[in-house]
Order: sequence, then C-alpha cells, then structure tokens
Amino acid sequence: MFEALARVPEDPLLAVSTAFRADPSADKIDLGVGVYRDDSGNTPVPAAVQEAERQLLAAQTSKTYLSPIGNPGFNQRLTSLVLGAVGASRGAQAIGVQGPGGSGALRLGAELLRLARPDTRLLVSKPTWANHIPLLGGAGLAIDSYPYYEIHTHGVDFDAMLAQLEQQPAGNTIVLHACCHNPTGADLTLSQWEALTEIIKRRELLPFIDLAYQGLADDLETDVAGLRLMCALVPEALIAVSCSKNFGLYRERTGLLIVLTPSGERSSIVAAQLGRVARTLYSMPPDHGAAIVERVLSDSTLLGGWKRELATMTQRINGLRAALADALTEATQLDYSWIKSQRGMFSKLDLSADSVRALRDQHHVFTAPDGRLNIAGLRTTTVERVAHAIAAVSRDAN
Ligand code: LMR
Repeated sequence: MFEALARVPEDPLLAVSTAFRADPSADKIDLGVGVYRDDSGNTPVPAAVQEAERQLLAAQTSKTYLSPIGNPGFNQRLTSLVLGAVGASRGAQAIGVQGPGGSGALRLGAELLRLARPDTRLLVSKPTWANHIPLLGGAGLAIDSYPYYEIHTHGVDFDAMLAQLEQQPAGNTIVLHACCHNPTGADLTLSQWEALTEIIKRRELLPFIDLAYQGLADDLETDVAGLRLMCALVPEALIAVSCSKNFGLYRERTGLLIVLTPSGERSSIVAAQLGRVARTLYSMPPDHGAAIVERVLSDSTLLGGWKRELATMTQRINGLRAALADALTEATQLDYSWIKSQRGMFSKLDLSADSVRALRDQHHVFTAPDGRLNIAGLRTTTVERVAHAIAAVSRDAN
C-alpha cells in the first residue's frame, strides 16, 4: 500500500527544534520556532490560564460532545475580544467558528473559500509564515504572493504591495498579518490599513487576516486597530485567530475562524457550511483550551490577571528588542536600531544560508532557516553572545 510514498523532508521550522535538541552544547540558544520564553527559558502557562483550568476541572461534570463549530461561549467571547465595538455593530453578520488552533482556523477558511469560490487566488506576503503556503494551498487553492518586506529599509514596501493589489481581479483573496508580521516583524501602519481597505473594497478583494499575536506587539487594542478599521468597512472578511501565544495554550490547539458577511442570513449559512467542513475533516474541535479561554474572558478577575501577564510578556519582548538592537549596533558598528521599531516575536536578519548554518554549527545559536530570530527566545544573559555571534558570521560572509 505505502510503497509509492517518498520520504518527505522535515518541516523547515520544526527541523530547527529537532536540530537544537540534538546539539549537546550546554550553551546552545534556541531562537527558532516562535514560542514565548521567560528569562529562565521556560514557556510558562499564564497564572490566569492555570487558575481557569483548575476551576474548569473542579466544575466540569461531563466531557460529552459539543458541536462541529465548537464551544459557543468561546466563539462569542473571542470574537468580541478581536472585533470590539466593530463586532457589536456588525451584529449577526460576524460569526465565530472554533478551529483546532489558529492553523486549523486558517485551513477552515481556505476550505470555505474552496467551496464558495474555487477559482479565488490567495495572495500571501513575500515573505510569509513558512507554513502559510502548504496549509492554505492544501485546500486546493492557487497561491500567489505580493511584495511586502524591503530588506534594505527593514520596513514594508507599501507602494509595491499596493501596485500588485491594484492588478488583482475581483474575487481574489489577500492574506494579511494583523500584527507582529511573521517572519519580519514589520507591521502596517494605521494609515496603510486605511489605504488597503480602500483598495480591497474598490477592487472587490477578500481580506483573510491571520491574527496569531494579539497583545504581543503593543497591547490588545492597538494590535487590532488596523484589523478593526478594515472590518468596519469591508462587506466580507475572514479572520483566523490563534490562542497559542497570547494564552500560552500552544498544544491545546485553540483557535477561531471569524467570518464577516453582508447579512446575518448569509453568515448563518456560512456557519453551517463550516460545521459541515469540520464534521467531514475532524468532526469536532478539541474543547479544553477553548473552555479555558472562555472562562478567562468571562471572569473579570481572571481577565485582569491575564491582561497583566500578557502586558509583562510584551514588555519583555520589546525590552529584548531594544537590547539586541543596541548590542548588534555595538558589535557590528552598523545601525540595527530598526529592530526596535519592529513588533512581535520576530525580526528577520539579512543572513545567508551559510551564515545561518555557521551560527548554528560554530556558535550554537539556532535561528529559522530564513534568518528569522525569535526575539522572545532571548534572555538578558544571552543577548550579548547572540549579537557577537551574528557579528562574527556576518564578518566571515563579507
Ligand atoms: C512559528 O512561526 O515559529 C510558529 O508559528 C510556530 C509554527 O507552528 O510554525
């Protein structure tokens, strides 16, 4: 039966974790896969999440099935956290359907598009999260890209992005990162979101927004200001939400697909279609993480505690950004201050494949293959060493 199957290479990002585990060095530093770490190198479960889990275990009397669209309380509360007043004003036009993680929500969205509009072409930013293309393309949709990151300015090449979108036929789908762009850390400004909204409406394109890091750039409101601005004005949108990073629920696979349509009736048809997609793929999403998030979002004490912990994580990341920028500037005598203005867990350095390999083999510093660093994987005690290692491999490359 399986003789025809060829061996597949390991996923490039997950392979970094495998290589890191295999390195016997006591001084190794993992800046690969995007997980938040504290200054001791642990990926903590926030105290509010632990407390919600404890309460849940004490109160839960049954684990009987919920439904293919998941936990309604979770769907509704997380939709409100994302959309705020925009969600309230769109009323029944905005629906949330639980998915197995943010990745599962992305795939649900792609499966929905295949049913609704199989000829839609998905445009992803160049570069984008390494798994976007296989994950979304796996639904059978054609994928293309739009220019996004300009390595020389370390910012968004917005003119080139707009020029590409101006050429799109109606019905194509634009995949956007709500904040904390993965892998570059270069986010759109509010006025750029405004300009994008205008073009998306005028050219009748569909925004498909990936929101995996709400709260980890600046705060829970600022990080979705552009998304909300757009969602108030476009007739239709998809938003894939992940609770992996901000709630620390990675392996619990907790995510949500929000769909906006022009009418409540259309949205209820979409919800039923998504229920059928879920039923035919995995029947129902896992509940544990969703039940925890629902509890955190519905209890003011837990919510306040979680918000404070999230703010601490974000401050730590932004502090590490500043420290790394200064240390790199000092070690290379080049200007790395742009790292401070980027946001979220990642920044992408202009490192060749050879430099990435040298960092790993000679300095035991593990980055993503494209030179992306997980800033949240640094510690105050490792910043200097990482900066000197990067300076050394960059010198050797020149
Ligand atoms: C990342 O980009 O490293 C994370 O989103 C983890 C993953 O699954 O790739």
